[in-house]
Amino acid sequence: MRLGALLCGGELLLLDGQLGTGKTTFTQGLAKGMGITDVVSSPTFTLLKEYTSQSRSDTENETQRGLALYHFDLYRLDNPDEIIDLGFEDYFYGSDVCVIEWAAKADLLWPAERLHIRLKMISETERSLLFTAVGQRYYELLRQFHYATTSS
Ligand SMILES: Nc1ncnc2c1ncn2[C@@H]1O[C@H](COP(=O)(O)OP(=O)(O)O)[C@@H](O)[C@H]1O
Ligand SMILES: [Mg+2]
Repeated sequence: MRLGALLCGGELLLLDGQLGTGKTTFTQGLAKGMGITDVVSSPTFTLLKEYTSQSRSDTENETQRGLALYHFDLYRLDNPDEIIDLGFEDYFYGSDVCVIEWAAKADLLWPAERLHIRLKMISETERSLLFTAVGQRYYELLRQFHYATTSS
């Protein structure tokens, strides 16, 4: 939720980790932080689900639309080229937020700048999350995230 609240659009978050490590759960929290009130469920059988948040800047511009969250799950992807065939690439360079579960399935395809999040199971009730920024914008995002996490 804390990370979701810091997103302002155009971010690409790549999630990797075995089944059951919490990729979908993480995305649910992220969506909440973005102000999305819809229930976020696993897109495993659809490859892509789209959600829209309420505008957060109601003081500045009442009519400004909220951010969209594009939630991908590549678990069932056989060939990375499918992503290109389906026209998904445009989303990754767009001005909304993209979260990709099983991102390593299409590793050669990602834009130069992105945030990697690697999830691991520590025990039944514990997970570890490793955040790796690639590019200045994500380095800055992680700096803010770290600050938001340690100052509350
Ligand atoms: N941070 C966490 N700590 C403890 N349990 C978690 C955490 N994240 C997810 N879980 C639990 O792990 C299970 C699988 O989560 P899910 O998000 O569906 O994983 P994935 O999408 O990686 O397959 C769920 O029962 C969920 O409640
Ligand atoms: Mg999942």
